[in-house]
Amino acid sequence: MEKKKRIGVLTGGGDAPALNSCVYSIFKYGAKKDLEIIGFLEGWKGILERKTITLGTRELEDILIQGGTILKTSRISPKVDALIKNLSKENIDILIVIGGNDTLSVAYKLAQKKFPVIGIPKTIDNDLSGTKYCIGFNTAVQNATNLIDKLRSTAKSHNRTFVIEIMGRETGWIAIKSGIASGAHVILIPEFKILPKDLYDKIRNRYFEGNNWSFIVVAEGAEFDGRSVFNSQRDPFGHVRFGGIGELIAEKIQKNVGVETRYTNLGHLIRGGNPSAYDRIMSMKLGVKAIDLASKNQTGKMIALRSGQLVMISLCNALTIKKVPRSLYQLANKIS
Ligand code: F6P
Repeated sequence: MEKKKRIGVLTGGGDAPALNSCVYSIFKYGAKKDLEIIGFLEGWKGILERKTITLGTRELEDILIQGGTILKTSRISPKVDALIKNLSKENIDILIVIGGNDTLSVAYKLAQKKFPVIGIPKTIDNDLSGTKYCIGFNTAVQNATNLIDKLRSTAKSHNRTFVIEIMGRETGWIAIKSGIASGAHVILIPEFKILPKDLYDKIRNRYFEGNNWSFIVVAEGAEFDGRSVFNSQRDPFGHVRFGGIGELIAEKIQKNVGVETRYTNLGHLIRGGNPSAYDRIMSMKLGVKAIDLASKNQTGKMIALRSGQLVMISLCNALTIKKVPRSLYQLANKIS
């Protein structure tokens, strides 16, 4: 009897809503295609430590709708040769890697060493190039929008300005989209600078017009008055941890405009909870596509959404940071 092809799968980097829906589709459809699917636990760590899992119908049943990742995740930057050694010990023919920039940069190194990989784009930050879709971004934007909406009543009741900080690393995708959707009066993102005076004037003008409250949405990686705020301890991929720019802005507004100002950091809340229907469906489409490609031994690339179609693009091209375009920033300014 012919040996079944063994397909490994892992999720790496920050967890994101709909990772589970993707894993669900890979295991379900993989079984239908007569492939053996092996999950590696905690991202690359699972390969280094040979921690694997297989999921049957019962384990899969509920995960489709759940946030987080049943395969767990980690942020480690492994040595590629050690990965290849253990992947061959586990008899893995093809590895499906679901991740963002950091995780997929390791997948790219594997591909360069001729290990067969298939990349699936995942990041709430939406900063992978060459693809319109990244798993988790849609839900993160909706979560952020819902949370900002909840602040409106308290801001208005107390005549306060709120500075709301939102994740996104070096890009402002979640901030700009949720800021527009929730009617923020000013949105600060890393891609475009705003002069402190212009921010203060905007709030002052709102007060003069009788609007005694304001929403300022700020992406964690944004700069204000020549400063950004981060913890300089770097993660294994060399990234700093952002957090606190909103607090600095709130203090400056209070001092320079003289209005009562509060700071809220939405933090990890936007990554939690059940995925949106859109994220579930898209991530399942990506999972199904990955299995079809694996069946045909088409590897070495990342699946991307382009012009409404799922296509294969070079992993290397996906790794450059995708920035918020000026047109979206201008839209925010036109309607704020
Ligand atoms: O990349 C996803 C992300 O949520 C970023 O927006 C954020 O800066 C970072 O991860 C937070 O990382 P951690 O979960 O390790 O604190």
